[in-house]
Amino acid sequence: MEVLNEVKFTMPSLSVNEGTARAFVSSFIVQADPTVEELSDIRTAVSEAVTNAIVHGYRGTEGKIELTVRLLSGREIYIRIKDSGCGIPDVKQAMEPLYTTSPEEERSGLGFSVMESFMDKLTVRSRVGRGTVVTMRKRLSVHGR
Ligand SMILES: Nc1ncnc2c1ncn2[C@@H]1O[C@H](COP(=O)(O)OP(=O)(O)O)[C@@H](O)[C@H]1O
Ligand SMILES: [Mg+2]
Repeated sequence: MEVLNEVKFTMPSLSVNEGTARAFVSSFIVQADPTVEELSDIRTAVSEAVTNAIVHGYRGTEGKIELTVRLLSGREIYIRIKDSGCGIPDVKQAMEPLYTTSPEEERSGLGFSVMESFMDKLTVRSRVGRGTVVTMRKRLSVHGR
């Protein structure tokens, strides 16, 4: 799939940057004319991934989060969220609905489920002690105007 446009963005893992990331992604993808619902789904998925990097990946420490957003041919949006935090020992287990390592903080364990249902494709690669890379894709609808 051809890359038509791409932006990259690096930010420290401060919780205020959940909003920064949402706004950054939104402002990039408006060029592809998403529906209100598509935009909202993508914003939510990005929020969940960035929140995970902040609260789980860097838990109590500070590090760098890299965000890459691409517009691909065929109206496809590609988003990559990378942290260099603690990593996930068992990705399959972590992606199970309701699985959370922070129940005491009232986390739902549904972050990955939300990303999976709001996007068309979700891939998680992680190495303990190295960090986590989440990539998501969503094809936008073709709609009249
Ligand atoms: N970027 C990350 N770095 C380290 N661990 C992560 C990361 N993202 C997710 N996890 C692990 O996967 C679990 C499930 O994530 P998620 O489905 O978003 O649920 P929640 O955030 O509510 O715990 C987390 O509790 C955490 O253990
Ligand atoms: Mg989460």
